Amino acid sequence: MKFDIIEEDINNKEEYHCIVLGVFESYILSSFAEKIDRISKGYLNILYHTNKFEGKIGQSLLLSHIPHLQQYKHILLIGCGNEQELDEYYFQQIIEKTALILREIRDEKILFSLTQLHLIGKDIYWKISQSIHIIETSIYSFNFFKKDRVVYNNFLKKISFIVDKESNISSCQRAVKHGVALTSGIKVAKDIANMPPNICTPLYLSEKLIQLSQKYDNTTASLINHRMMKEMGMNAYWAVGQGAENPPIMSIIQYDGNTYTKTNPIVLIGKGVTFDSGGLSIKPSYRLDEMKFDMCGAAAVYGTIYAAIQLALPLKIIGVLACCENLIHSRSFRPGDILTTLSGKTVEVLNTDAEGRLILCDVLTYVERFNPDVVIDVATLTGACEIALGNYFTGLISNQILLSKELVTASKQANDPVWCLPLEKNACKKQLESNFADISNDGGRAGGTITAGYFLSLFANKYHWAHLDIAGTAWKKGSDKGATGRPIAMLLQFLMNRSHGPQ
Ligand code: BES
Ligand code: MN
Ligand code: ZN
Repeated sequence: MKFDIIEEDINNKEEYHCIVLGVFESYILSSFAEKIDRISKGYLNILYHTNKFEGKIGQSLLLSHIPHLQQYKHILLIGCGNEQELDEYYFQQIIEKTALILREIRDEKILFSLTQLHLIGKDIYWKISQSIHIIETSIYSFNFFKKDRVVYNNFLKKISFIVDKESNISSCQRAVKHGVALTSGIKVAKDIANMPPNICTPLYLSEKLIQLSQKYDNTTASLINHRMMKEMGMNAYWAVGQGAENPPIMSIIQYDGNTYTKTNPIVLIGKGVTFDSGGLSIKPSYRLDEMKFDMCGAAAVYGTIYAAIQLALPLKIIGVLACCENLIHSRSFRPGDILTTLSGKTVEVLNTDAEGRLILCDVLTYVERFNPDVVIDVATLTGACEIALGNYFTGLISNQILLSKELVTASKQANDPVWCLPLEKNACKKQLESNFADISNDGGRAGGTITAGYFLSLFANKYHWAHLDIAGTAWKKGSDKGATGRPIAMLLQFLMNRSHGPQ
């Protein structure tokens, strides 16, 4: 879908099929609705007395055959609640409601005025970029495997945000550019993450990354297959995949958006377990299908880099998709096994279901060779993270306070919530002690997310590092089961901020 900006005083709005207008409680028309009311010779006001629509949040009224505005198929009135109480939370609800209606009515070109509503503390950039995000999220559907499903997006072709003369047009245009790049990254990430595990294998993900790199001159991709892993000494990563028919593959994409300067790269690592059965420490079967989403970290890294490429961010970024399957076989690794990691540290496997840290620890050592400015890993690492933080916050653990601050700021700007968890040796070391190796891979139930983060930190001592646990945020359960694309919004914002201010 296309998004653009249209200035309010441009008269030629004939090509549109539908105008979206906001109406506040007690039927107070928003300023653009007032203007449309005048053109219709007071038609909107007359309606007040004949309809139940009062402008409450959640209400809407779809009009057709509007006097003096016959060129439009529809005018859609959206309830915006109390004007004084309109905050970002209500705004999101309003936009989402609108998107769901637009999806149903199947008009192609929409004139959209809701971004003109006044929101305390939020500027036009925020309103437009958020609207694009919410609209794209609401109309997303995963229909690769549904023969007869209506593809709603085919109807909606263009949404134009009306902006008044006082608005900063370049800021509006930046919002569209960023919103479009972000949502395109989120969409490709969701498409990959929602794919079933019989199709989305480590090989599939590596092919996706290679295809992406082949489209651009400033990207290159390389693969580390299971043989190379073994040879190199990435034994922990290798061991997790040793029981699977589909061998592990680590895929790397390098994006160079500033060939002129000698800056060190930002490295993003995504956990890409394309199916996590738990291995011999097998998981219960309840909702086990959801363990296809254990590659959402890899999908998020892919989506973030995809968006960064669209925006041509002047940075060096390296994305690593750490992919493998955690399955059960006579060849599978076992509880009790001791693995020598690439770093030389030995790990006793107490639980084959704590496989994410085994994969990531070797990747964290591997990426030292890039001399990174910063390393961020993204992983559906611990069920405990969902218990601790729920489905709203992504968990953040870092070995550098400035980096966590940067990520928290980006998270707030992008409306993609994170919460910092502690990294504290005294709180975790004991739980990871092993009688047989340097450390164990299972710290027990208490503080499962911070012991996992601490485990990773032991392999991230050569650079500034942050870990994002997306176990509670990467996908939704129940009737809207599906990948969310989180935390791409926050990561892209972080990258934009690192490009010396948003571009
Ligand atoms: N992929 C899971 C974590 C997970 C579980 C994410 C449920 C989202 C929903 C991870 O590999 C795992 O199994 N972790 C274990 C660690 C434990 C054995 C120390 C967990 O969380 O139970
Ligand atoms: Mn697991
Ligand atoms: Zn896992």
